[in-house]
Amino acid sequence: MDGLVEERVEIGQRQLVLLRPADPAGLIDEDEFGDDEFLPYWAELWPSGLALARHVGGLDLAGKHVLELGCGLGLPSLAAALGGARVLATDWAPEAVELVAQNAAANGLDVRATVLSWDSPQAARAGLFDLVLAADVLYEERNASPLIRLLEETVAPLGGALFADPGRRHAAAFFDGVRAAGWSIEQIVVDGLPAGGIVRLRRDETGETSSECGLPRRQRVSGQTFGEVALD
Ligand SMILES: C[S@@+](CC[C@H](N)C(=O)[O-])C[C@H]1O[C@@H](n2cnc3c(N)ncnc32)[C@H](O)[C@@H]1O
Repeated sequence: MDGLVEERVEIGQRQLVLLRPADPAGLIDEDEFGDDEFLPYWAELWPSGLALARHVGGLDLAGKHVLELGCGLGLPSLAAALGGARVLATDWAPEAVELVAQNAAANGLDVRATVLSWDSPQAARAGLFDLVLAADVLYEERNASPLIRLLEETVAPLGGALFADPGRRHAAAFFDGVRAAGWSIEQIVVDGLPAGGIVRLRRDETGETSSECGLPRRQRVSGQTFGEVALD
C-alpha cells in the first residue's frame, strides 16, 4: 500500500510501530460510497481504538481467543497479541485487513486478519471467542442489531466483550439492546474518552442470554474450537 506514514504508539512497556495512511480523506471513493455508504474510516487511529488497546494491553490474555470487529488499524488486536492471545482481527475493508497483517508482522506479533462484514452470513461461522473487542463501531443506528447478533454468535459461554465508545449518539440504544438480550454491562472509565468509555459485556454464568430483543439464539456446537473456524 502506498502513502503510508509510520507512527510509534506506547502500549504498556512496549512501543509498537504503526503504519497508517498519511491522507485518509484521499482514500474516499465515490462509487464505493454509492454502494454501501462506505467511507474509509478504517484508515484513522480513533481515540477509542487507542484507549481500548491501552486497556487490553494491561490484561493477561495468555491462551485466550480474541476477535476484533471493525478493527480499522487494529491496535487493540496488536495489544491482545502482546498479552499472549490468539487473535483474529476483522473489518469489512480489505485494505484495513491487509494493513493489520502488515503491522502485526512488523511488530513480530502473530495476528490473523480477515474481511468480515457484521451482517454477512459468513459472520455466524466465525467461531467462539473468549473475548470480543470493538472500538468506535456504534456511530450508525443500522449497525446495532447486526452487532448484537454477532455478539450472541461469537462470544463463548462465560466469555465477554469490550466495546470502547467516544460517546456516539447511537451507543445508548445499542447497550439497551444488549441489556435486553440478557447481558450484564459494566462501564469502565478510561483516559482518552471523556464523553464515553469502555463497556464490559458479560454473558450470565450459563452462557445463555434471553434474546428478548427478538434475535435468534445460536445453538452451540459441542467440541467446537474457539476461534479456529477459518473465515477465508
Ligand atoms: C470509526 S472506525 C473505528 C476503527 C478502529 N476500531 C478504531 O477505533 O481506530 C469504524 C470501523 O468499523 C468498520 N466497519 C464499519 N461498518 C462495518 C461493517 N458493517 N462490517 C465490518 N466493519 C465495519 C470500518 O471499516 C472501520 O474500520
